[in-house]
Amino acid sequence: MKKADIGLIGLAVMGENLVMNMESRGFTVAVFNRTVEKVDQFVNGRAAGRNIIGCHSLEELVEALEKPRKVFMMVKAGQAVDGMIEKLLPLLDDGDIIIDGGNSHFPDTIRRTQYVESKGKLYIGTGVSGGEEGALKGPSMMPGGSVAAWPYVKPIFQAICAKVEDGSPCCDWVGENGAGHFVKMVHNGIEYGDMQLICEAYQLMRDLLNMSDDEMHEVFAAWNKTELDSYLIEITRDILAYRDTDGEPIVEKILDTAGQKGTGKWTGIAALDEGVPLTLIGEAVFARCLSAMKDERVTAAREYHREIPAFTGDKAEMIDAIRQALYASKIISYAQGYTLMRAAAEHYGWNLNYGGIALIWRGGCIIRSVFLGKIKEAYDNNPELSNLLLDSYFKETMEKLLPAWRKVAAAAVQYGVSAPAMTSALGYFDGYTTERLPANLLQAQRDYFGAHTYERLDAPRGEFFHTNWTGHGGTTAATTYNA
Ligand code: 2AM
Repeated sequence: MKKADIGLIGLAVMGENLVMNMESRGFTVAVFNRTVEKVDQFVNGRAAGRNIIGCHSLEELVEALEKPRKVFMMVKAGQAVDGMIEKLLPLLDDGDIIIDGGNSHFPDTIRRTQYVESKGKLYIGTGVSGGEEGALKGPSMMPGGSVAAWPYVKPIFQAICAKVEDGSPCCDWVGENGAGHFVKMVHNGIEYGDMQLICEAYQLMRDLLNMSDDEMHEVFAAWNKTELDSYLIEITRDILAYRDTDGEPIVEKILDTAGQKGTGKWTGIAALDEGVPLTLIGEAVFARCLSAMKDERVTAAREYHREIPAFTGDKAEMIDAIRQALYASKIISYAQGYTLMRAAAEHYGWNLNYGGIALIWRGGCIIRSVFLGKIKEAYDNNPELSNLLLDSYFKETMEKLLPAWRKVAAAAVQYGVSAPAMTSALGYFDGYTTERLPANLLQAQRDYFGAHTYERLDAPRGEFFHTNWTGHGGTTAATTYNA
């Protein structure tokens, strides 16, 4: 009997759909699941008549595979992955490949790559984005790990992944050890940011401009034909038009408390660890936290009884300004996300291909958009670009968007409509483009109370000074340190 091209463990929806996808592209897939009945259910059900081999033990699965073996784990993130690796290692030969396609945290993937390699096998941790439908029809895939494994899995991954219009695959090698899962994590963080920005635009239109859901539906439909053309704008357009059984827009009946599974939080933590100002994604995570405090917000709203004053400006003009504010803030979000990836690449020794990452995200995943094509171009023009804001296209674009963005931020603040991502993104932009920030005063404060020393504008960098501010603190400086 012909051996299978790849094995997959974990027949939940994502796993099953990936198997169906691989089989539909001409690969023979051997499958296994801890609860073995699911193997039979699958093989006799959805997989009936397909080139899918049901296995009732890991031994059987390993035996069914072509060498070097490729075993794709689609099991619950965490301990289950470590447990499965332990079970697989003694069954595999040197050079065989273990793949983790779950939502693993990148430090785990760094550790597991090292561990599996120390046992003579190869390891890949891959981000898989696009949900159940993506898994079936073409996900965006972000593989990292043992680079020696890539030539063996590349034909399969690039066959099953999403493609952009010109046929380029939304999957390419991301980098060493945990790089793939790191990039997937940043993707999810960016997704938080994009969603929050759209929600702020919606709230400004609803609460400042008193627009109906039908009107907003029209606006998002129009925006989807601009630079904002993206999956998330598209579904927002459709959500706003969706009616409940009583004919009313269903979105207005949904409780305003956001859930989260933690990948946005991980991205924020990674940014704090790397010392990268990832303010927009941070605000997006905190906005979900604030939304979750519904009861307290209801109490506070009753206490303060704030009324949003009637809007006195030109409505059509403000709608277009909101579009521009959304676009400008989105550019900030991606600029920050890419800065985080650069910092992490340096820290962990990854050789990331930034334009390639934009192309991977261009299709298949939740943040897919036309805009990502512009990011790819920016990094194609300059692979060493330190910040997207320094690319000529984005500089020109930002300069055009700025007046409208300021107008929206000012209106949000003046009328009292909460728009934390759009307004703080502007704070970041103004800070990033300021030659002289007030950190001179901050250094003076630190030196005053803690003798932490400072550098001077009129002395070479790296030379540290201390002032005896009070006349009785002495001249002893604390050793300089940066946490
Ligand atoms: P199950 O059907 O036996 O529960 C998503 O939860 C997938 O991960 C399911 O296929 C599930 O198998 C599998 N899974 C969860 N924990 C696991 C573990 N400790 N070992 C193996 N598979 C596990």
